[in-house]
Amino acid sequence: MAGAKIVLGVGGGIAAYKSVELLRGLVKLGAEVRVAMTQSARHFVGELTFQTLSGQPVFTDMFDNQQDADIGHIRVADGASLIVIAPATANLMARLVAGMANDPVTSAVLAATCPVLLAPAMNVNMWNNEATQRNVETLAARGMYFVGPDQGFLACKWIGQGRLSEPAEIAEAVAQLLSAQDYAGRHVLISAGGTEEALDPVRFLGNRSTGKMGYALARAVVRRGGRVTLVSGPSTLEAPKGVQLVSVRSAAQMCDAIVNARQKADAIIMAAAVADFRPVQVATSKLKKHELGNSPTIVLERTVDILAKLGAEREGSWPLLVGFAAETTSDPTALLALARKKLLAKKCDLIVANDVSASDRGFASDQNAVQLVSSEGHEDVALASKDEIAHAILDRLSRELQAKGPRA
Ligand code: CTP
Repeated sequence: MAGAKIVLGVGGGIAAYKSVELLRGLVKLGAEVRVAMTQSARHFVGELTFQTLSGQPVFTDMFDNQQDADIGHIRVADGASLIVIAPATANLMARLVAGMANDPVTSAVLAATCPVLLAPAMNVNMWNNEATQRNVETLAARGMYFVGPDQGFLACKWIGQGRLSEPAEIAEAVAQLLSAQDYAGRHVLISAGGTEEALDPVRFLGNRSTGKMGYALARAVVRRGGRVTLVSGPSTLEAPKGVQLVSVRSAAQMCDAIVNARQKADAIIMAAAVADFRPVQVATSKLKKHELGNSPTIVLERTVDILAKLGAEREGSWPLLVGFAAETTSDPTALLALARKKLLAKKCDLIVANDVSASDRGFASDQNAVQLVSSEGHEDVALASKDEIAHAILDRLSRELQAKGPRA
């Protein structure tokens, strides 16, 4: 969102305190944010909080000469990439329906030519009221976008629909509206996390993958308008909203889930760290140390190499296949050679190669640095967050998908 100019309109509801976190999230994503508040919003949160966090003057009074000179009640909407209103109260939405412009938020919306996103929050009965529902329909018919409200425990102590969506979710909806929708109409199957190969009912052989890279890829595809099936090994991460999550444990389960879903995929990205071996025997009850002696032996057998299977079995050139090569070498030339070998051996279109031996990248880290290797050459992606790496991979994949056109 670097360079995006966002107007955050704050309505007068108790959820206004959450718009402070939304502001922080938007600023963190690189946006320049101007805050406009209704009079009633100021009862809930002080404008100084928004001013400090946005680094910009806050628009609170239509008739303050200084503010009008600094911001201008019409100019606040000029040049805005998007207006997001959080919380959008029942009253505020009713005023938007009527086309009123009697406060900094409604006047910004009336003068806007950019997309407007509303995050409603109110009591469940106010939300369900026919007047509010009709207002929502009218605003949606005028092209405004909505995120939430969510179900849950409300500030008024009722339980039901009316909670402001979480700030991270609203920020994601903003990012989605501002992103190129180059994955619209595309379905991407992504594997994530590590697998667990059982030894007995309580023990397993596993690896250090957390799923961060695969989940970042899933989030990035959704942001760019695509559909995602995410086949995930055990992970503590929350699946991004809008993805179809298939949870698995073992390499065999992951293989079945991917084979079942591959038909509808335009591209498959194997970000998972799949076990290459599993114990030949899985004990049905807990193994006891006195029965195992001092140096027990575990006999292993190969698992199916899912990516190689996908490469060998694909008909024509669909779906596009992206593999990862997690290597423990810091020598870029050696890394490239290993990646090229995997590209050929597993018959895929792209290998994302990275060095997992450095502590600032790879497994469990929030960052990575990768080489994108295809038959046409390679491209270095410097150390960046896994979200940024995900978008770099998708940029590359998007070009390949565009060149191929729609899947028959
Ligand atoms: N992979 C897979 N099925 C397996 C093992 C790996 O689909 N049983 C996929 C991974 O998801 C990744 C790619 O293959 O996209 C490379 O995995 P990696 O572990 O780096 O390589 P291996 O093929 O296992 O080879 P090696 O262990 O010799 O490095």
